[in-house]
Amino acid sequence: SNIDKATGFEKRFENVGTIVFENSTEASKAVAQEIADLIKVKQSQKQPCILGLATGSTPKGLYAELVRLHKEEGLSFKNVVSFNLDEYYPMEPDSINSYVRFMKELLFDHVDILPENINIPDGTLTKEAISDYCRQYEAKIEALGGIDLQILGIGGNGHIGFNESGSLKNSKTRLVALDHITRVAASGDFGGLQKTPRTAITLGVKKIMEAKRVILMAWGEGKSSIIKASVEGTVTNQVPASYLQEHNNATFVLDQAASSKLTRINTPWLVEKVTWTDKLIRKAVLGLALKLKKPILMLTDADYIENGMSDLLADSGPAYDINIKIFNKLQNTITGWPGGKPNADDSKRPERAEPAKKRV
Ligand code: F6R
Repeated sequence: SNIDKATGFEKRFENVGTIVFENSTEASKAVAQEIADLIKVKQSQKQPCILGLATGSTPKGLYAELVRLHKEEGLSFKNVVSFNLDEYYPMEPDSINSYVRFMKELLFDHVDILPENINIPDGTLTKEAISDYCRQYEAKIEALGGIDLQILGIGGNGHIGFNESGSLKNSKTRLVALDHITRVAASGDFGGLQKTPRTAITLGVKKIMEAKRVILMAWGEGKSSIIKASVEGTVTNQVPASYLQEHNNATFVLDQAASSKLTRINTPWLVEKVTWTDKLIRKAVLGLALKLKKPILMLTDADYIENGMSDLLADSGPAYDINIKIFNKLQNTITGWPGGKPNADDSKRPERAEPAKKRV
């Protein structure tokens, strides 16, 4: 599949395979295809297919595509055994915010998975019963030979499942306290922070790491910083997703926005020989000025050379010439009429004829 090819990642910067899709819809389809392929291989071997599943906004497109594959292309889930990552605690299964309900509404009610093959942590247990229950949850996974494919989202703090920052690599399935940042992210669904659960049951990092295949999906610019930290940063319990760098078959599946802070996307000239288009020059020079906290016109040859832009300097230098060119370009974007002034001569402002994307 497409995702299998995500092996040529930039070794100097990325410590785990990444693959970037045009958008989350395309990405979700590719992940759905890999799951479908696996289910079919297992069917042909008369084996169950053990899937680890996530909830949240990220996998919604994936589940929609799996439902479509079932309805339109006859993909059967009869041999699928699923284990969800987590559930809030306490939580009634029929409550509007339960992950049981989420999974039924988005996937299980629309495919032919057998109800007895669905496993989701039980949010109705007494506190005393939780640790035994968690042991059994893991034992059940082990008895089936482990998770074949684990789907993950990622929290803004780098959590996987509800393994928040600080979770150890060998952590077990357990009751955890949710980070403030996680509760804030969920508070919209619960009608305010006060009503948002403080605890959850989550599959531990250990079982996630034992999965034979792991696909972590992330969409949107809001995830771009934590994606960079997870993919390029050091492995740390502060960013549990960074543990996946130590997994031998994990891939981060990203849309463009989520990938935008990766070195090879944000500063490709640090990774490979680039074609210096006007757009790229502008991005690089602006980035250099911001990084060095210098006005564009003050950037020196040494600044270019020391920051991986010496080939640009060789092509179009000295710095003075590049600086002036970019400075003028920027100057020409300044206007009191951002939408264009009716009937005015805008010929000196190419922006108006072909507006570039702007961030405000
Ligand atoms: C959900 C889960 C979480 C989410 C993460 C991202 O089962 O385990 O780790 O994947 O919080 O949530 P979304 O996708 O809503 O951004």
